[in-house]
Amino acid sequence: MKRQNTIGIVDFGGQYAHLIASRIRRLGAYSEILSNDESLETYSGLSGLILSGGPESVYEKDSPSLSEKVLELGLPVLGICYGHQLMMKLLGGEVKAGNAEYGRAALDFIDTSKTELLRGFKGGEVVWMSHGDEVTKLPPGFTRTASSHDCQFAVVENQDRKWFGIQLHPEVTHTEKGSVLLENFVRIAGAEGTWNLKQFLDQKEKELLQTIPSDKKVFLLVSGGVDSTVSYLLLSRALGKDRVFGVLIDTGFMRKDEVSNLQSKLAPQGIQLHVHDASELFYSRLKGKTDPEEKRKIVGNLFLEAQADCARELGLNSEEWLLGQGTIYPDTIESGGTKHSHTIKTHHNRVEAIQKLMEEGKIVEPIKDLYKDEVRELGSFLGLPMEWTNRHPFPGPGLVVRMIAQEKSLSDSVQKELDEFLGSDPSLQGRLIPVASVGVKGDQRSYAHCATIVGEKTWEELDKISTSITNKISSINRVVLLLKHKVQELNSLSFSFQKIDLDKKDSDLLREADAIVENILQKRKVYDRIWQMPVVLLPVGSQAGKRSIVLRPVDSQEAMTASFFHLEKEILEELVTEILKIPEIDYVFYDLTNKPPGTIEWE
Ligand code: XMP
Repeated sequence: MKRQNTIGIVDFGGQYAHLIASRIRRLGAYSEILSNDESLETYSGLSGLILSGGPESVYEKDSPSLSEKVLELGLPVLGICYGHQLMMKLLGGEVKAGNAEYGRAALDFIDTSKTELLRGFKGGEVVWMSHGDEVTKLPPGFTRTASSHDCQFAVVENQDRKWFGIQLHPEVTHTEKGSVLLENFVRIAGAEGTWNLKQFLDQKEKELLQTIPSDKKVFLLVSGGVDSTVSYLLLSRALGKDRVFGVLIDTGFMRKDEVSNLQSKLAPQGIQLHVHDASELFYSRLKGKTDPEEKRKIVGNLFLEAQADCARELGLNSEEWLLGQGTIYPDTIESGGTKHSHTIKTHHNRVEAIQKLMEEGKIVEPIKDLYKDEVRELGSFLGLPMEWTNRHPFPGPGLVVRMIAQEKSLSDSVQKELDEFLGSDPSLQGRLIPVASVGVKGDQRSYAHCATIVGEKTWEELDKISTSITNKISSINRVVLLLKHKVQELNSLSFSFQKIDLDKKDSDLLREADAIVENILQKRKVYDRIWQMPVVLLPVGSQAGKRSIVLRPVDSQEAMTASFFHLEKEILEELVTEILKIPEIDYVFYDLTNKPPGTIEWE
């Protein structure tokens, strides 16, 4: 098959492979994800090839590779992170375990006279790094054109062969001028624009109509979020309204008043929503559960069970129905959705039973290749008002992933590392708290300690401190700021583990805090500036029955990466004051962790 004007992305299992593809499409060039063992013919028709990042080390046995013959095809090639290291190794360079770098870094050195790839860069640009290994020796023909403080070969080029290697991630929005770099590559590859969302919409409608048998209808789980609403509208448009049935399952872990508000909010969109109350089922099955992955799997299976109960109650013939889901791309990749990716978390739409239904062709996911920002844009094409398309994302498992039930014993050695790191600065103190959270480092899942710090610092200073702590201390993946307390008080406070249950009482408590936060964000007109703001309930308090709240506002575009939001201090004051009026809440923390190394949700 001829793939003219197409940039191929070889997926080595990074969190970012599809993100690269989506960025390339946004730059107007068609892109396609390929595996590392396609036929030579497949690669040969491309305009250019990008080798993605991945979780392995190139020097490990059995790590994914690429035939050297592919490099010899004469295509322009851009290696990113793992792809860069692999290309260097295949061409005779060297790769070693090096200075780990996660998060923000700056290109302190750029050879502006020599670089083709960094055309338009001046030096000093902020870039996003996420790697443990690094290239230590270049193959013949390559020149270093940029470095960061911790990475000598951040950008290398062989302009004769149009081969480029970069350690940074240009596809994430936190890399300043990342799209300029990719655009330069698309230009070097001579690829033309062949893709936009309108085209996607037209093609998808045709595809749905052709692939869903005419005697089948779609039973769609609608959560009220943007993804499932857009899926509903897209399916209705393609198949007709009478072939799509929307059901909202009340899990008991929804936001305050969400269920009652939803039906009336959806009616103007022509969505007749049926509500099925499964809260008692969810509370009973989640009782006593603490492990994040186990919680997720239970929730995924319960959705199916509740959906079957609901279909039975309504007397629907299961043979006639397919199950629709509003899964979007990041949900599939973080569940280990491509050949080489590691499972960061099991998305509720990707539990085993769903996978089985997928194999049987019984699942329909119309927007599974899109990113959040694309879903929002598609929503606008489909007539959804801005207030809808701009709603903060809310995860399918709901508050279940925001109620931390598992204890993490404190570690003297990690505390010692933290003390040593913070050193003698009297204006800053830090302590571990007895919980862990999920994170992602160098494309691998982590579940590690959380440290709280106290100190009068600016957000920029706190960002640097948090990034250094998680870079230097591998067993800490999350750093939070303790609010309303002074440095001198930290050592006298008690942060003991106080069991929380995934029951109605504790979820009501979190619902209350979450509603306070959303009201204040709306009232202060800051809601639209924040991408998402999970409010998390922690089993940490000074005495029995007490708990803590974490505020986790983030800035992001596509959820694959995020940075913590720098909220105005006076809004923060109001939030803390109001939350602390809830009698069970002892402490309020502010999450200072970017993604990577922390995920947005705590799990
Ligand atoms: P993380 O925590 O992985 O979250 O950084 C990325 C984005 O995905 C949302 N999220 C989910 N959404 N079902 C969903 O529909 C899920 O199981 C799920 N887990 C995470 C999360 O809220 C964030 O926007």
